[in-house]
Amino acid sequence: MRVLETKRELQAWSDAERRAGRRVALVPTMGALHRGHAALVGIARARAERVVVSIFVNPTQFNDRRDFEGYPRTVETDLAACRAAGVDVVFAPNAAEMYPEGAATWVDVHGLSEPLCGANRPGHFRGVTTVVTKLFLAARPDVAVFGEKDWQQLAVIRRMTTDLGFGIEIVGGETVRESDGLALSSRNVRLGPQARKQALCIVESLERAERMVADGEADAERILEAVRATLARAGQARIDYAELRDPASLETVSGRIEGPVLLAIALQFEPDPDGRGSAVRLIDNRVLGRRPRADA
Ligand code: PAF
Repeated sequence: MRVLETKRELQAWSDAERRAGRRVALVPTMGALHRGHAALVGIARARAERVVVSIFVNPTQFNDRRDFEGYPRTVETDLAACRAAGVDVVFAPNAAEMYPEGAATWVDVHGLSEPLCGANRPGHFRGVTTVVTKLFLAARPDVAVFGEKDWQQLAVIRRMTTDLGFGIEIVGGETVRESDGLALSSRNVRLGPQARKQALCIVESLERAERMVADGEADAERILEAVRATLARAGQARIDYAELRDPASLETVSGRIEGPVLLAIALQFEPDPDGRGSAVRLIDNRVLGRRPRADA
């Protein structure tokens, strides 16, 4: 496995691979890799002969300096995990490589970037789309794989890829969960033990909503009421949002729901009362009323 630090080296490598007739897949990450990332690498591997994982904690997508500084950085274990997963190249640039002195160019996707996480984290998606553009230009992949846990991010990146004509296939990877159902996230390790227990209300609310829809409930407000009541059990958390949206356009869904609808949730946890853990924001989602996948 090679570890490259400059865009120029990565471009040269990727160009040579494609000249040799091999497809290149990119899995962009911010490190602190877990089984969810390994699953994305598996998807990438199934679609291309060569897999690149980028590891870069992108400063411009954090609207809170403490969140950026506290973001877990585990480079050595990440490299070992990539090696074990059969990754061909890890791209690990520094901030100056991605944002050269005087950098003043931004990529902004209007509309899709505005609700949900966009409303609560100003500038977040601008940071994501800008860095992903730079990663696409550096890795020149045929395929790029992103987790469905960040559903809105995936929708924004699909839009951007189409609008800018990158010609890259964007693939979503299903959310991987802990045995108790909590969606894997690099941020989970920062929850205090009490917050960690309370965080289960997220998956419980997704499941409750799913059962309601399966039992014939179609009233958006009644579903959201039940979701909010379940989330309220986490006394240590504030609901950032719990909303029903169209899975593709992210338009609000209200009244009677027809067809698949995205339930998107973000909870902001505080540290445990005894001071353990940090402030952590968790997101999760589920598409309600979706027919089971053929491969499930
Ligand atoms: O999903 C992430 O980890 C990040 O938002 C991404 C796509 C790597 C961009 O920094």
